[in-house]
Amino acid sequence: MRTQVGIVGAGPAGLLLSHILHLQGIDSVIIEAKSRSYIEERIRAGVLEHGTADLLCEIGCGQRMRAQGLVHGGIELQFSARRQRIDFQELTGGKSVVVYAQHEVLKDLIQARLDTGGQIFFEADQVSIHDFESASPHPRIRFRKDEIDHELTCDFIAGCDGFHGVCRPSIPASALQVFERVYPFGWLGILAQAPPSSHELIYSNHDRGFALLSMRSPTISRLYIQCDPEDDIAAWSDDQIWSELHARLEGIDGWKLIEGPVLQKGITGMRSFVVEPMQYGKLFLAGDSAHIVPPTGAKGLNLAAADVRLLARAFAAYYKSGRTHLLDQYSETCLRRVWKVQRFSWWMTSMLHRFEDDTPFDRRRQLAELDYVTSSRAGAQSLAENYVGLPFD
Ligand code: FAD
Ligand code: PHB
Repeated sequence: MRTQVGIVGAGPAGLLLSHILHLQGIDSVIIEAKSRSYIEERIRAGVLEHGTADLLCEIGCGQRMRAQGLVHGGIELQFSARRQRIDFQELTGGKSVVVYAQHEVLKDLIQARLDTGGQIFFEADQVSIHDFESASPHPRIRFRKDEIDHELTCDFIAGCDGFHGVCRPSIPASALQVFERVYPFGWLGILAQAPPSSHELIYSNHDRGFALLSMRSPTISRLYIQCDPEDDIAAWSDDQIWSELHARLEGIDGWKLIEGPVLQKGITGMRSFVVEPMQYGKLFLAGDSAHIVPPTGAKGLNLAAADVRLLARAFAAYYKSGRTHLLDQYSETCLRRVWKVQRFSWWMTSMLHRFEDDTPFDRRRQLAELDYVTSSRAGAQSLAENYVGLPFD
């Protein structure tokens, strides 16, 4: 098999890249380890920056998002038994975010790819990449599907296979610099059959630890609590989870959290991670394969979309003019945004979570920071412009 761009991974990065390339007349093939139904049901991120939402519309994949997504013009920050709104629209000249689940975005992108003749190999085993050094004329992706070995020859490989994929580890370790911070807590997340108790997301800094109220639809809530990353989810009963959520989110003017049956629950560890550069020869990394952010800034999916926007543009310039200047600049251009988003995600995480080794001084400073951010226009504006998404270059 032969294609122009071989893509490993059918997550947001791989699917978006493939579809944007198709619209530019560039051929690609996606190799994905999991099944279509697994990807279309896996619960992950939920907040789209305004630029990510616009991008989905520009490429013709925004109809369901526009119809079913919930437009949010602000968030609530809760601390010291008070709740303060950050008004994105007022602070950013009318911008907002859209609450629309990642797996719904993936359904839309997979459908769009299949409708336009795109090729996606789901349930591919033993995926490996070869001959992607600069001097090699033809990089290759090998995989096994339905007991048959396949080889895909391409001009370039896009490593969109997430944090645990094969592409990043295939680069010689000596060629990469790794930057990492692992946080001493995780998030226990539930999906509940309950109408959201608030119109907007509530980020709560509480003495018992962080909590977040989010949602997926007018009848489904998505809720998180800070927990020990080593906790066994089976050891948390639904009653215990609800009890922590009540303790960390209630206490404001008689406001009550609405409960409902728990449909799904899980624990995710939290880390900040960046690898530099995001390119090695003819292999380009995009999304979680190159960087991870803690979810407190709601940025993971959005950063993946920002990477592939640039990567697609660089491939388009190459196939149009033969010039590699944008491909050569890809890593450096991406990393400028990546580090700003890393900073914001780390800052939100530090401001809102309880750290076991915090001194009383640290705790007072944390609350003063929340007080500052919610009472100063400059402070609130900085949070708002990052949350709705920094402008593209
Ligand atoms: P991924 O979505 O990870 O896609 C990579 C794809 O590559 C996957 O489909 C995978 O199956 C495939 N793959 C992996 N290895 C191989 C291989 N060897 N061969 C072929 N295919 C392979 N972000 C938020 O903002 N909010 C959240 O609440 C949130 N929750 C999350 C929960 C979890 C459990 C995880 C893992 C991430 C979460 N994120 C969240 C982050 C966000 O979902 C990611 O940033 C986003 O999915 C990145 O997209 P991606 O396409 O780069 O990677
Ligand atoms: C979610 O709805 O899953 C969500 C929302 C905001 C975040 C993280 C996750 O910061």
